[in-house]
Amino acid sequence: NATLRDPGDGLAVLESRGSIAETYGIPLAVLAELTHRCPLQCPYCSNPVELDRGGSELTTEEWKKVLTEIAEIGVLQIHFSGGEPTARKDLVELVQHASDVGLYSNLITSAVLLTKDRLSALADAGLCHVQISFQGNEPIVANRVAGLKQAHEKKIEVAKWTRELDLPLTVNAVMHRQNLFQLSDIIQMAVDLDADRLEVANVQYYGWALKNRAALMPTFEQIEETSRIVEEAEARLKGILAIDYVVPDYYALRPKKCMGGWGRQFFNISPAGKILPCHAAESITGLEFESVRSNHSIAWIWQNSEAFNRYRGTGWMPEPCRSCEFKEIDFGGCRCQAFALTGDAGNTDPACTLSPLHEKIFKLAEQESAADNNRFIYRNFAGGTLETEGDHGA
Ligand code: SF4
Ligand code: FES
Repeated sequence: NATLRDPGDGLAVLESRGSIAETYGIPLAVLAELTHRCPLQCPYCSNPVELDRGGSELTTEEWKKVLTEIAEIGVLQIHFSGGEPTARKDLVELVQHASDVGLYSNLITSAVLLTKDRLSALADAGLCHVQISFQGNEPIVANRVAGLKQAHEKKIEVAKWTRELDLPLTVNAVMHRQNLFQLSDIIQMAVDLDADRLEVANVQYYGWALKNRAALMPTFEQIEETSRIVEEAEARLKGILAIDYVVPDYYALRPKKCMGGWGRQFFNISPAGKILPCHAAESITGLEFESVRSNHSIAWIWQNSEAFNRYRGTGWMPEPCRSCEFKEIDFGGCRCQAFALTGDAGNTDPACTLSPLHEKIFKLAEQESAADNNRFIYRNFAGGTLETEGDHGA
């Protein structure tokens, strides 16, 4: 569950490959959620509350067909994600197939299931990049958040193997009220691990994470301090570590350009093969998503399906977005957040100060963070909802 990097200069490569990309053309990068299964139990999981079960997952042959098809229509990058993608026994085979069809592959992983041999096999199969999520900079906080003993220690080990194998590494640090005090140490950890990039990823509150908002919401003072720490580190570590940071929604002035705009730059494929405009899109009830198992091609689904076209561009926007000068900059923010907070994905994202609901969510964030309720409801793939305030997993 991670933010995607902007494919950036991949456009030149795309042109040289004669891609059919144009306005709403095929995006450069696709996120493949191979499975929703996961050994971690993070309270901020952004996957839908209803998960795809193992039996409904695409088969190896189905995924290979998908990889071939997306490469043929001009996609350049494939991000293997989940859940935990290494829970799929066929991951090496899928990475090899991605290489064979010319895709740049990135593994977005919690790392806890990887062995050195398997990581080495992935590198041999052509894996191009590894992104590891961290829940803190030391085991006591990190393992409690992950809901798994020894998770942090394992992640550190895998990060070291990643660099030994000469694979580029991104550290994805998911930040919230209960670990923001470690941010400076997390930045140093990323430097020590020889990562190229650190994503300071503030928790976003849809899917399972919404259940834990009160336990995760940072205080306004924490966010001010975070911005100061990131600014100082960016200047100090220029050329050593790139840092991605966006002010969290509830405290922002304007919303993030979520997914680069709905149906503009990315799509996701769910474990069961649904083509989604973003990883949390299934949390929006009332939208129907087409599947790679349907009779339509992936290109047709991207260009023509109702779910993509419903919030594409600016024509669907209500006021205040419709007459706003920023409408082609942020595309009205995040549809999933608008749905989670207003019950209608077609509303302006309340993260925007111009939304009539903004003041309400700002106050809500202040109240929830001040109440200091630290109890987590853990995500448990088996279906349980373990609750704890204390030392779970540590
Ligand atoms: Fe963006 Fe809409 Fe807010 Fe304007 S009103 S800044 S378009 S979310
Ligand atoms: Fe779905 Fe923002 S997460 S549009």
